[in-house]
Amino acid sequence: MIKELLKRPKKLVRQLIDDNFARLSVGSRKLSVLYYFLFDRSFDREIQAVLAGKIQHIDEAKKNKNNYFLLVRNTHRIEKGLLMKPRRDLFGKEYITETIDSFEAIWKLGKDDNDNAQIKWFYDVLNEYFSTINLSHPNISKEEARFRLIVKENPSTALEPHTTKSIPYHRAKQDANNVNYTQFYNLCKQRRSVRWFLDRPVPRELIDKAILAANQAPSACNRQPFEFRVFDDPEMVKNVVKLPMGTSGYGHSIPVMIVLVGNLDAYFDERDRHVMYIDASLASMSFMLALESMNLSSCSINWPDIEARESKMHSFLNLKPYQRPIMCMGIGYPDPDGLVAYSEKRPLHQIRKYN
Ligand SMILES: Cc1cc2nc3c(=O)[nH]c(=O)nc-3n(C[C@H](O)[C@H](O)[C@H](O)COP(=O)(O)O)c2cc1C
Repeated sequence: MIKELLKRPKKLVRQLIDDNFARLSVGSRKLSVLYYFLFDRSFDREIQAVLAGKIQHIDEAKKNKNNYFLLVRNTHRIEKGLLMKPRRDLFGKEYITETIDSFEAIWKLGKDDNDNAQIKWFYDVLNEYFSTINLSHPNISKEEARFRLIVKENPSTALEPHTTKSIPYHRAKQDANNVNYTQFYNLCKQRRSVRWFLDRPVPRELIDKAILAANQAPSACNRQPFEFRVFDDPEMVKNVVKLPMGTSGYGHSIPVMIVLVGNLDAYFDERDRHVMYIDASLASMSFMLALESMNLSSCSINWPDIEARESKMHSFLNLKPYQRPIMCMGIGYPDPDGLVAYSEKRPLHQIRKYN
């Protein structure tokens, strides 16, 4: 310690203050915040991104009135109202105006986009809502009139007669369970982190199919605040593979690299700042299992919150201030000659507690 003190006195004194202040602060929330303000700025980027997302969300909701995430969330809330037992006579009056505000802009822009089934979903759910709700509330009847006018003045191909409406339905009648537990368990067990891949291109069609499976994952209020950024250009793969830390020793074997990016503008409040990580992780799991079902493999790769790396990744992906990388993934055809870690799992009794 004395040797160290003589060599780098300032650094050591600072370290001592830092350590002691950390111990002193841990029992107090305010002091903990002060500690991170004075000694460790690891949270700065996250705080700024959460704030940027919130401002973006509020601007799109209130100023531009074209907030896609808001429309998805509120369509979801209306669907929940429609499926309640018993269904309430009146619901949604607090948020129907903002919903129709955003519906107007998004409908006008997307009404003929036949590749976006959500446009039909927005319409069908709102139509069902206004067709079944008690219209005696003045705000609801006003918004109903607005909704009908928007659609009348902006006719859409999405409204061509269709057999099924995108509204709450009886699932049991439609979905036959054609995967049994053993098959599913085997698929889960087959998936292992693969780090050695064949030098063989991965058809984009298969990647898209896996993403379509991932797209069926649950997400809070159905907002799906993430995107899969896929790199299959060898030069770009070489660059992006170096950005996280966890690829050393095998990065050169990865033919396709994915970066999952989260969108913090999905939220109007800090309370939801962690939701994008959960939603993206759930989607990633489906994505990896879907790959396995097509004889492709994957390795999740940690995205560390380290300023220098964040900054490089931000410029590489050209991210908005409210977007953040969540995780990376190497994917490809597994090399049968490459070893895979056994990775025995924890016993059931360690990971499960009833009541
Ligand atoms: C969030 C997350 C981050 C990971 N980061 C890395 C990584 O940086 N490098 C790596 O080689 N493996 C990484 N892995 C893979 C894990 O090491 C692997 O999932 C774990 O050892 C269990 O093995 P299995 O996936 O074969 O079941 C990561 C996995 C997850 C879920």
